[in-house]
Amino acid sequence: MGKVTTATLQKMKQQGEKIATITAYDASFAKLFDQAGIHAILIGDSLGMVLQGQDDTLPVSIEHMAYHTQCVKRGVENTLIISDMPFMSYATKEQAFDNAAKLMQAGASMVKIEGGLWLADTIAGLVERGIPVCAHLGLTPQSVNVFGGFKVQGRDQDKAQEMIEHAKALEAAGAQLLVLECIPASLGKAISEAINIPTIGIGAGKDTDGQILVMHDALGISCSYMPKFSRNFLIDTGDIKKAIELYIDEVAAGNFPGDEHIFK
Ligand code: KIV
Ligand code: NA
Repeated sequence: MGKVTTATLQKMKQQGEKIATITAYDASFAKLFDQAGIHAILIGDSLGMVLQGQDDTLPVSIEHMAYHTQCVKRGVENTLIISDMPFMSYATKEQAFDNAAKLMQAGASMVKIEGGLWLADTIAGLVERGIPVCAHLGLTPQSVNVFGGFKVQGRDQDKAQEMIEHAKALEAAGAQLLVLECIPASLGKAISEAINIPTIGIGAGKDTDGQILVMHDALGISCSYMPKFSRNFLIDTGDIKKAIELYIDEVAAGNFPGDEHIFK
């Protein structure tokens, strides 16, 4: 596999090849995942939880994200590097431009932001300025306090239809990738069919164009609990690189996620 770009992922969707992605936060794991052939690495603001031991992602700063992006960048040769913009770092367009620049200069090739329609202008402005954007719908963890907990989203018909409309608007604004988190599998499928950009699911069923897992969940390391949608790939392999290769193979073959990992 050569260098992965946004064009590579777009082509994979067109050819029906499943995209396998994972989070990483440092050079050593990033290098191993890159060598295993993972298509993209996300420096997720999940680092607030899995590295810092916080209850949610809200305490994560742009400085934390830039630091871990620099660390990951040094380990990566081919994988596409996506960095999360943390809580309130894109509240206005101007803030989004300044903070996205910090992540791109730290080594990201794409930034991710959480939210629907209200982000359309921000996305268009970022793309015009040379910054590719991954959007994120469903259970967007920075809004946990609005949701009243980490809950599956889009369960009723109105909310599901609304999410499809938001996905279309984000694509129209210029987003080149869309993460879908904790939604019914049927909605994951509907959104993936409604838009032309690749969708990357986590707890969104098997019909999204790709999958993402938090690396700690995929390796069975957890400081709190193991989410329903995840699988411990280390148990079957006993070796971290082989675990990630198995994850990529299982995603490609349509074996992960299985029925037990899906919200109905
Ligand atoms: O922060 C993160 O790790 C994420 C993924 C779970 C999509 O946003
Ligand atoms: Na995140």
